[in-house]
Amino acid sequence: MKLPWLLFSLLLSLTLWSAMAMASNVSYDSRSLIIDGQRKLLISAAIHYPRSVPGMWPNLVQTAKEGGVDVIETYVFWNGHEPSPGNYYFGGRYDLVKFVKIVEQAGMYLILRIGPFVAAEWYFGGVPVWLHYVPGTVFRTENEPFKFQYHMQKFTAFIVNLMKQEKLFASQGGPIILAQIENEYGYYEKDYGDGGKQYAMWAASMAVSQNIGVPWIMCQQFDAPESVINTCNSFYCDQFTPIYPNKPKIWTENWPGWFQTFGARNPHRPAEDIAYSVARFFQKGGSVQNYYMYHGGTNFGRTSGGPFITTSYDYEAPIDEYGLPRLPKWGHLKQLHRAIKLCEHIMLNGERINVSLGPSQEADVYTDSSGACAAFIANMDDKNDKTVEFRNVSYHLPAWSVSILPDCKNAVFNTAKVGYQSSVVEMLPESLQPSVVSPDKSFKDLKWDVFVEKPGIWAEADFVKNGLVDHINTTKFTTDYLWYTTSIFVGETEAFLKNGSSPVLLIESKGHALHAFVNQELQASASGNGTHPPFKLKTPISLKAGKNEIALLSMTVGLQNAGSFYEWVGAGLTSVNITGFNNGTIDLSAYNWTYKIGLQGEHLGLYKGDGLGNANWVLTSEPPRKQPLTWYKVNVDPPPGDEPIGLDMIDMGKGLAWLNGEEIGRYWPRKSPNHGCVKECNYRGKFDPDKCNTGCGGPTQRWYHVPRSWFKQSGNVLVIFEEKGGDPLKIKFSRRKITGVCAIVAENYPSIDLESWPEGNGSNNTIATVHLRCPEGTHISTVNFASFGNPTGSCGSYTQGNCHDPNSTSVVEKVCLNQNKCAIELTEEKFNEDLCPSVPKKLAVEAVCS
Ligand SMILES: *[C@@H]1O[C@H](CO)[C@@H](O)[C@H](O)[C@H]1NC(C)=O
Ligand SMILES: *[C@@H]1O[C@H](CO)[C@@H](O)[C@H](O)[C@H]1NC(C)=O
Ligand SMILES: *[C@@H]1O[C@H](CO)[C@@H](O)[C@H](O)[C@H]1NC(C)=O
Ligand SMILES: *[C@@H]1O[C@H](CO)[C@@H](O)[C@H](O)[C@H]1NC(C)=O
Ligand SMILES: *[C@@H]1O[C@H](CO)[C@@H](O)[C@H](O)[C@H]1NC(C)=O
Ligand SMILES: *[C@@H]1O[C@H](CO)[C@@H](O)[C@H](O)[C@H]1NC(C)=O
Ligand SMILES: *[C@@H]1O[C@H](CO)[C@@H](O)[C@H](O)[C@H]1NC(C)=O
Ligand SMILES: *[C@@H]1O[C@H](CO)[C@@H](O)[C@H](O)[C@H]1NC(C)=O
Ligand SMILES: *[C@@H]1O[C@H](CO)[C@@H](O)[C@H](O)[C@H]1NC(C)=O
Ligand SMILES: *[C@@H]1O[C@H](CO)[C@@H](O)[C@H](O)[C@H]1NC(C)=O
Ligand SMILES: *[C@@H]1O[C@H](CO)[C@@H](O)[C@H](O)[C@H]1NC(C)=O
Ligand SMILES: *[C@@H]1O[C@H](CO)[C@@H](O)[C@H](O)[C@H]1NC(C)=O
Repeated sequence: MKLPWLLFSLLLSLTLWSAMAMASNVSYDSRSLIIDGQRKLLISAAIHYPRSVPGMWPNLVQTAKEGGVDVIETYVFWNGHEPSPGNYYFGGRYDLVKFVKIVEQAGMYLILRIGPFVAAEWYFGGVPVWLHYVPGTVFRTENEPFKFQYHMQKFTAFIVNLMKQEKLFASQGGPIILAQIENEYGYYEKDYGDGGKQYAMWAASMAVSQNIGVPWIMCQQFDAPESVINTCNSFYCDQFTPIYPNKPKIWTENWPGWFQTFGARNPHRPAEDIAYSVARFFQKGGSVQNYYMYHGGTNFGRTSGGPFITTSYDYEAPIDEYGLPRLPKWGHLKQLHRAIKLCEHIMLNGERINVSLGPSQEADVYTDSSGACAAFIANMDDKNDKTVEFRNVSYHLPAWSVSILPDCKNAVFNTAKVGYQSSVVEMLPESLQPSVVSPDKSFKDLKWDVFVEKPGIWAEADFVKNGLVDHINTTKFTTDYLWYTTSIFVGETEAFLKNGSSPVLLIESKGHALHAFVNQELQASASGNGTHPPFKLKTPISLKAGKNEIALLSMTVGLQNAGSFYEWVGAGLTSVNITGFNNGTIDLSAYNWTYKIGLQGEHLGLYKGDGLGNANWVLTSEPPRKQPLTWYKVNVDPPPGDEPIGLDMIDMGKGLAWLNGEEIGRYWPRKSPNHGCVKECNYRGKFDPDKCNTGCGGPTQRWYHVPRSWFKQSGNVLVIFEEKGGDPLKIKFSRRKITGVCAIVAENYPSIDLESWPEGNGSNNTIATVHLRCPEGTHISTVNFASFGNPTGSCGSYTQGNCHDPNSTSVVEKVCLNQNKCAIELTEEKFNEDLCPSVPKKLAVEAVCS
């Protein structure tokens, strides 16, 4: 059947028309981005696609949208996409097009930070390791023979063309409104001499020549050319001004938490301070703000940077590693976004004036010709609360806080007053369940396959060389592991053989970690700590008369991801001595060393979900404990329920884990120092990553995220490689479950219903209210704690003060029991106001959801 020509051309023109109609014109002026003629105030959220799995993407994007986010931002991960020169990969977690389309389907915009150097606590800053070995290459500078530029341009163009093919730029009707070239180069440009500046200018013009139809940005690029927009990365960017007056004020990285390193404490940034920084930025004329990270996720496999960045990249972000909203942070920011959006039109189209309200108090007031008015009033004092007069009304401002007044009258939000509920999140242990019930009735016993590696050269040596080589140059990062082995002959006349003393092995390494074996026995382990990569190992050893084998297993734990000339840092042993001989010290550094790259198990592919026939696995229900260099394999069922899963490795030593051949990542319950933590975090005052640490003396990371989508219904192959010895029988899964909710609200909080404001601006708006909501499908089954009075503490540890209404629990129970959500107003009818008249009262509630 032939389509009548008229109908055909009508359809064609309709298709063309709709494609044209959807294309957006993204431009900007000094105030903001302008999309199709409209100025925009944008809240953006970083979610890195390879740090979760495709099955999580729609929900992460949706949770961001519900949190009041307009834009998703991501880096592009070059070394994940170009594993060898010209050989591209966009499958699985690296399916960039799919990710961008999910954002598009959610009706959101996207900022594509191509880099392709990205830092990002990602190995080698995202640049392929092979590029370091292309002769003549120096990363991130003008260099003969321009190899980095050549490959960088090639990859940038590849990504741009891929996005163009899929029509993903806003200029083509897609969601991408901004793209970034390079990343925070301004910090290091000087170190590269003249080449640094030339390179930065080349990068900008190379990017602009890609013709993508939307603006390019460069972050922390202090000499960016006018063809791009320079942007700010910091904990605070309210004082930032772009280089050129015609550029909008854009904040590409606001860090709502911080990354972790194995062996360090756990940093926290309080919700009050993040909200303060965001409110100050918009108060001072900012128009795009991006949370880095909004969902941090996981450094699966060996993708973490560092050295020593943990496998978790949770970042204490508003959505946690497992995909659950982190409360109250997520909710507090959602309310902040709502309050800011109520001011959007006036802010973008009106005039701003600033008014001093005190020595450390100021208002910025936006007005337009229609008489509309919005104000941000700030108390920058980091110690004292203050009551200020603004337009003849007084406002109470807690220290280090901003109140937002969308009508210049009602303070609908204050950054320091967190009314949003918290949640009680638990890791519920689930012992490993065997997939196959064993015929011999020992159904409770797991059957383990065990394979113990021989320390040292496990097959033919890769090479023998005089002296010690660089670890990374040798492995090219195809594995974390490199064996350095040699032998030493001990004569019968050595005094230590008779007098009971031990020779001492002394090793120095550029990093990152090391296990020392002598005559097949593990003697000691050591590692650096990130701040000082070179480290020493010193241990007494036992040597016998005759030949002694020295086998040293050197390991990388994440590759350097930033800094000047970071690709040249290197790793591995630099010096090995043994003291205590009749002759004194023997320096083995210049001996003949025999090298073996990687582990036998890696070579045999023992981590794969299938084809495990090659190894001489030993089947047992009593796998060895404290056994170094051991592979464990076990067939398990998925844990019950549908909660996200963490693998609990608290009783293991250090190593790698896989499920069904998918890389879970490096595990290492390395303990942090005993000191340097705080009991309570004071949100007031400038934040730095060391300000609010917890977890002193405990493991930096105990649980390792195993995405639900990696599990099959049964017959899941869990493989562990343990380096130094652990107790595999104590390995557990844990279900991450929200088991309760809490909230604490003070009577004088302006608990305005932001969703319906200003329609619902009646008297009810001034009634402080506790809102509680359990996860979908659950309800409040018990009220654990309720106190109207002056309770203190935080979720999970509230305690009554000396003022307490004994009816608190029954009032809350009456409203909330068996409800999925409830709202308790702090009114006279409900609570006893006369209880302690001089005490400002609060209501704290903790309830169980089930
Ligand atoms: C895009 O918008 C800008 C500013 O509004 C305008 O100057 C420019 O001509 C527009 N471009 C197109 C292609 O419509
Ligand atoms: C208003 O802002 C200007 C420019 O930032 C500053 O110089 C001035 O001190 C501010 N005035 C008040 C009253 O805060
Ligand atoms: C504040 O009060 C003064 C004196 O009563 C009055 O002149 C002024 O107009 C008032 N300002 C506003 C913004 O209402
Ligand atoms: C080994 O001995 C040499 C020569 O005395 C010395 O320079 C080097 O620092 C020593 N190395 C270690 C790890 O002690
Ligand atoms: C890191 O190691 C160096 C040298 O061993 C030590 O001085 C420093 O205190 C360590 N830092 C941390 C954070 O453990
Ligand atoms: C690694 O190898 C490169 C040559 O490929 C060499 O220039 C560099 O110095 C080596 N690095 C170290 C730390 O030995
Ligand atoms: C044993 O002999 C070694 C090598 O001569 C010497 O360094 C050490 O001090 C002696 N130890 C004792 C306990 O005599
Ligand atoms: C100890 O020193 C003597 C004399 O220098 C030398 O002959 C002998 O080989 C040395 N022994 C060792 C184990 O290095
Ligand atoms: C080191 O090993 C090489 C290669 O096996 C060999 O030719 C050489 O003789 C050895 N040197 C020493 C000092 O043992
Ligand atoms: C609040 O409510 C009053 C009366 O219901 C109405 O006149 C006013 O416009 C509303 N909005 C604001 C911002 O006050
Ligand atoms: C206040 O709350 C009461 C009871 O919940 C409701 O009937 C009334 O309409 C509300 N008033 C306003 C102005 O929202
Ligand atoms: C507290 O509860 C008791 C008993 O239910 C009741 O008699 C009393 O009036 C209540 N107090 C208040 C302030 O509601």
